[in-house]
Amino acid sequence: MSQSETSIDQHALAEVLEGLRQPQKTISPKYFYDARGSDLFEQITRLDAYYPTRTEMGILRNSGPEIGKVIGPDAIIVEFGSGNSEKIHLLLDVLDRPRAYVPIDISAEHMEAAAAGIDADYPSLTVIPVAGDYTKPMHLPGHSALDGARLTGFFPGSTIGNFPPEEAEAFLVTARDILDGGDLLIGADLQKDPAVLNLAYNDPEGVTAAFNLNMLPHLNQLIGTDFDAGAFEHHAFYNEVLGRIEMHLVSQAAQTVHIGGSAVSFAADETIHTESSHKYTLEGFAALAARAGWRTAQTWCDAKPWFSLHLLTPA
Ligand code: AVJ
Repeated sequence: MSQSETSIDQHALAEVLEGLRQPQKTISPKYFYDARGSDLFEQITRLDAYYPTRTEMGILRNSGPEIGKVIGPDAIIVEFGSGNSEKIHLLLDVLDRPRAYVPIDISAEHMEAAAAGIDADYPSLTVIPVAGDYTKPMHLPGHSALDGARLTGFFPGSTIGNFPPEEAEAFLVTARDILDGGDLLIGADLQKDPAVLNLAYNDPEGVTAAFNLNMLPHLNQLIGTDFDAGAFEHHAFYNEVLGRIEMHLVSQAAQTVHIGGSAVSFAADETIHTESSHKYTLEGFAALAARAGWRTAQTWCDAKPWFSLHLLTPA
């Protein structure tokens, strides 16, 4: 059997092809994350240049007791995505008798891993993993631990920054529905000296470049494209007008790539936009939250301030 009959993800193929047919070629950052991509991202979080992860964890450590007090006892933490287990540990450790942990992840594999780790570390906590796409309206499963209980959402990492502003607003509306009256603790990276931002996405070790380029072999494997990763280069820069880091893959020559039955041509220096990472001001983030029906109850930052954590409550 040909690969197309056995293992091609047809939904992904259609989505990638559509993105490559736009005037500015685009591929969603979700295609970064195969096993190697997840490992490279993990390495990024430990780079000197990449400040967001350690800065957010510092805020969780320094302001943890206060955050724990504001969230209150018997919390049910609903995590959107199940990323960094160290962060959820920091949060659970400052809570008074947290009742349940509900990780929602589109990848059943990630979610099971996160759930199993937490289950083992917090024997008295009920762990209720949910497989699903949290950018779409959804109902949490019926479970006695969730009956009549107040939920608290957790969305760290400034992952919201990957969404363009309209989609970020739509996500916040969906999150408000899913949390059903509960609050949301959310991380947002802040606007700062462009030199700091540019370095964070252009580390001298080249890990971010490898992470960006890894999308191409991943797609070759996933949807049978014939990208030559050696024919593209990493390019990341802070777009001050739009307040976002943009990551691109730059075609080093005129070339043609095959995808399904189609051919996609690249001019020399033409780019694929692979990720945007929006950076906020505190006012800008509060305004975004307000448009989605949230009031900012409290904000915590590091001293610089480079990163922010917001506790949002339904307006
Ligand atoms: C996982 C989306 C928060 O935007 O900083 C890190 C991903 N990309 N280096 C970010 C990323 C390049 C990261 N987020």
